[in-house]
Amino acid sequence: MTTVSLNTLAKRKREGRKFASLTAYDALFAELISTSGVEVILVGDSLGMVLQGHDSTLPVALDDMVYHMNCVRRGNRGSMIMADLPFMSYASESQSLESAASLMRCGAHVVKLEGGAWLAESTRLLSERGIPVCAHMGLTPQSINRLGGYRVQGRQPDQASTMIEEAQILQDSGAALLLLECVPVDLATAITGKLEIPVIGIGAGPHTDGQIMVMHDLLGVTPPRIRVPKFVKNFLRESTDGIAGAFRAYADAVHEERFPEMEHSFT
Ligand code: KIV
Repeated sequence: MTTVSLNTLAKRKREGRKFASLTAYDALFAELISTSGVEVILVGDSLGMVLQGHDSTLPVALDDMVYHMNCVRRGNRGSMIMADLPFMSYASESQSLESAASLMRCGAHVVKLEGGAWLAESTRLLSERGIPVCAHMGLTPQSINRLGGYRVQGRQPDQASTMIEEAQILQDSGAALLLLECVPVDLATAITGKLEIPVIGIGAGPHTDGQIMVMHDLLGVTPPRIRVPKFVKNFLRESTDGIAGAFRAYADAVHEERFPEMEHSFT
């Protein structure tokens, strides 16, 4: 695979061709994923739940992200690497700059921050200094205590119009990508159509520009204490070539617009 950049994703959006993303946390899986046709690897703070055994992403430290980011960079073979800024590592603008710089120094190509319009100034500061930002909206797991549970976001008309406005503010502030998690199909479709930047979805229906999944969910090894979300599909079950085959099947299904289906989406 050739090296994927933000330009690749912007071109995909212009051409109406979908792209695939998957989480990875170590070198071996990063290599398998990047050679399977997946364009974007996310070093997600979901590692707190799938690797570290926590009940949420809140305990994940910036040092944890740096460690896993370094592992993934060594295995990557040309995918774009996005890395999560963990809980409370971007509570102020100067802190967001310091934290993002730590991940960029390890080889991240984009950093992801959870939140809405309150991130506008940090987004501007980072992007003006050469750090591409992916804004993560909808269900933002670092705010689970405020949200009151892992629930679909934007179902009420006022919530939906706020999300549309805030997505536009973040694009205007320089965000390079937007990720929407657990958002009704119609709302995700409207935001994707309104924004110029590529929009990646998880539990956001089939019409976003890209799709993302947590690697463990795709392999059917969601930790037993976590309820398997509706938007998950186990690609290993149908693979005739083990784990590598499951990654290729996922990438192909996204590229060919066979995944996600409506059964994986919220209406
Ligand atoms: O940390 C993560 O894996 C994520 C995905 C759920 C998008 O943010």
